[in-house]
Amino acid sequence: MAEWVRLCGLSEAPAVGQVMEAEAAGVGICLANVNGELSALDNWCPHRRGPLGQGWVEGESVVCPWHSWTFHVKTGVGEFPVKEKIDIFPVKIEGEDVLVDLERIQASGVEPT
Ligand code: FES
Repeated sequence: MAEWVRLCGLSEAPAVGQVMEAEAAGVGICLANVNGELSALDNWCPHRRGPLGQGWVEGESVVCPWHSWTFHVKTGVGEFPVKEKIDIFPVKIEGEDVLVDLERIQASGVEPT
């Protein structure tokens, strides 16, 4: 069952090519805007818990600001290093609010190798 929680206002969401940190019900989220589409990723990098929301966008991925581990914004699959993966949360816009579904972590369909 979906658990949609307000993450931030639409006007606060990052511009194209930007990321930001936010929190929804105590869960740290990295909100990324790639090509005008918002994606919500677990904010905490699996390497040493660097804040992905303080990183940057490269192509369709977010780069961790601490040691440059890189994760695709739609699948959460690590592009560097390839064996890692982070959680991705469904996002929707309702009126002036950006919501995330904390219940349903999106399956990428791609298992890290
Ligand atoms: S903490 Fe993210 S790459 Fe090291």
